[in-house]
Amino acid sequence: MSTVMPRSDYAREILHVYGIITWFTLGIAAIVGLALAWVLTRFRARPGTTAMPAQIRGHTLLEMAWTVGPALVLLGIAIPTIQAVFRTQAAPPKDALEVTVRGHQWWWEFQYPALQVATANELHVPAGRTVALTLEGPDVIHSFWVPRLGGKRDVVPGRLNRLTFTADTPGVYRGQCAEFCGVSHANMGMQVVVEAPDAFARWVAAQKAESPEPAAGPAAEGKAIFASRACVGCHTIRGVSSGPIGPDLTTFGSRQTIAAGILPNTIDNVTEWIKNPTAIKPDAKMPALGLTDQQARAVATYLAGLK
Ligand code: CUA
Repeated sequence: MSTVMPRSDYAREILHVYGIITWFTLGIAAIVGLALAWVLTRFRARPGTTAMPAQIRGHTLLEMAWTVGPALVLLGIAIPTIQAVFRTQAAPPKDALEVTVRGHQWWWEFQYPALQVATANELHVPAGRTVALTLEGPDVIHSFWVPRLGGKRDVVPGRLNRLTFTADTPGVYRGQCAEFCGVSHANMGMQVVVEAPDAFARWVAAQKAESPEPAAGPAAEGKAIFASRACVGCHTIRGVSSGPIGPDLTTFGSRQTIAAGILPNTIDNVTEWIKNPTAIKPDAKMPALGLTDQQARAVATYLAGLK
């Protein structure tokens, strides 16, 4: 999560402004430091001197200098900043990939309306193609921030914010909610997977494909438990349930992490999560359903097979 290793046009714009300000202020710090050192040496109290040095008050030229000087500094910061704001707020091109980002307490929902794909906490985007995010939220204010790609952009209930960037290098980039949103704000992470266009196309195809019916055994047992318990009230699994509240689990097994980036997506971790979500993510909205170890592991095995 570093802003000084940008991998998108947007992040490069931010680093550009950051660089200007850094060099500018380093120059000012050097001038002020040298002047201070000179004054301390030149006017220091020497043994035997008791007289005050000459006192200056109301020196018009000096007063003007330290009013105009800072104003010029602010202007020097404002011009590249405003230019970068306009460049990064330009309307996205027509062929941009549209993604709706919804910030929830405490996870991220990503919908691709044109592709009819939905995922959670793991945003996939193709390298070299502009991505146009529309950000909205159903509960409190969150902030979308993936330092190497772009942001921060607040997710505000009742209004639509936009964020446009073009990632240029395939890789996995960590993101984090950057606006305090409650107990598990710090546990509201995400990953952005930037892929070559053909790999992204394969990911989309896999997201749209029907998951195979689980073979008899723990996975089939897990599906039966999932379908008969409160799980279906909150979670969507295409062809099984259509709960609108929690993350869409249709391709849960394809994700690298669970619980908004807290843990690797393994059957052991998912089992622990199902048994007691709030032990992993304090105040998580998902309740413990009172499943036995063996039932929770069966559900985790079923979910792991959804790819
Ligand atoms: Cu969501 Cu902080």
